[in-house]
Amino acid sequence: MFDHLDLLPEDPILGLSQVFAKDDRSDKVNLAVGVYQDDSGNTPVLEVVKQGQRRMLDEQISKAYIAQAGDVKFLSGMSELILGSINLNLDSAGRVAAVQTPGGCGALRIASEVLGKSRPDCTVWVSTPTWANHQPLIGSAGLTIVAYPYYDLNSKTIQFDDMLAALEQASAGDAVLLHACCHNPTGADLTSAQWDALTKLCKSKDLFPFIDFAYQGFGQGLQEDAYGVRKMAAELDELIISASCSKNFGLYRERVGALLFIGAERESTAAAKSHALVAARRSYTMAPYHGAGIVGYILHNAELRAAWEIELSSMRNRINGMRKRLCDGLNQAQSTIDFSFIDGQWGMFSFLGISKEHVLELRDKFGIYILESSRINVAGISDSNIDYVVEKIASVVDQA
Ligand SMILES: Cc1ncc(COP(=O)(O)O)c(C=O)c1O
Repeated sequence: MFDHLDLLPEDPILGLSQVFAKDDRSDKVNLAVGVYQDDSGNTPVLEVVKQGQRRMLDEQISKAYIAQAGDVKFLSGMSELILGSINLNLDSAGRVAAVQTPGGCGALRIASEVLGKSRPDCTVWVSTPTWANHQPLIGSAGLTIVAYPYYDLNSKTIQFDDMLAALEQASAGDAVLLHACCHNPTGADLTSAQWDALTKLCKSKDLFPFIDFAYQGFGQGLQEDAYGVRKMAAELDELIISASCSKNFGLYRERVGALLFIGAERESTAAAKSHALVAARRSYTMAPYHGAGIVGYILHNAELRAAWEIELSSMRNRINGMRKRLCDGLNQAQSTIDFSFIDGQWGMFSFLGISKEHVLELRDKFGIYILESSRINVAGISDSNIDYVVEKIASVVDQA
């Protein structure tokens, strides 16, 4: 059976992590991997997660299956977290339905299957660039993917006029994949005014927003990061939101995500959810409970919720503080590139805008690992490595 199969190449990011692990230089720095790291380079279990987990397990009386849509406390907590005050209105009108999924990836994949069921010829517009996993998750559900311009590598700004012009060409019913905040890989986020304009365009052209919300609370704040999602949910008839708790709860390996359908009315919303449940049944059937149980517990307990918000803001402040230090450090240490854009971006990622040759030189000569696209994870920078990182990046770009 297996002798017909070719050996496939490794995922480039995971493959690079393995090379990093084998690198025995003591001053090596991993800015490639896409997870949060604290100042010691650890991806910590949040204190509030330890507490919520303990209490959730103490109170647990069964390991029987939960409802197929997921844990009720988790789903209501996530709907409120994502939609804020408009959740109540949408919920009482039956216009919001939530499904628990294995991570944000599970939500993106199930959402794509529902889109394909609803419109077999559905085209999904995605930003250039976008997270490398969007293509396989959405494309393998049979949807057609078309790119819209998003980020200009030269000016380091969002090409908003070009983005709107491209989406003007979309057909009614096409889906537009948007990053709610902390755009991966660029860190360049839409302003409130740009979200407003995009909402208008989606309304007038009958485009369907498909919003990937993987980093709520990692950019400007829990509420601020939800601006675009809530604007669209308040003003448009229909959209999909795919959320992840990997980053903001640090629950990467527990695979915790949620898929929210906002529908025009009760019946179509329920129908969308039913298709998501059938799509889930055909593959993993039910999402894992453990991580969602912890999140549901925290979101419904005032003391733990407040503690979570404090821990989340300390992760966010660390990232934003490192952005400022990296930006200032690089601007002082070299004169070839203006790195001011780093401080105006949000979340863990930015494109440094350096060449592939310089990326490889940083890796080979100095053990500083960056993706070939020049995407860095700012959270990989710490008190102990920032001077080294700044000095070495400056040394390669200045020799150009
Ligand atoms: C843009 C984006 N969407 C979705 C995800 C999904 O993450 P997970 O499946 O781990 O929850 C990620 C994770 O890196 C991401 O960067």
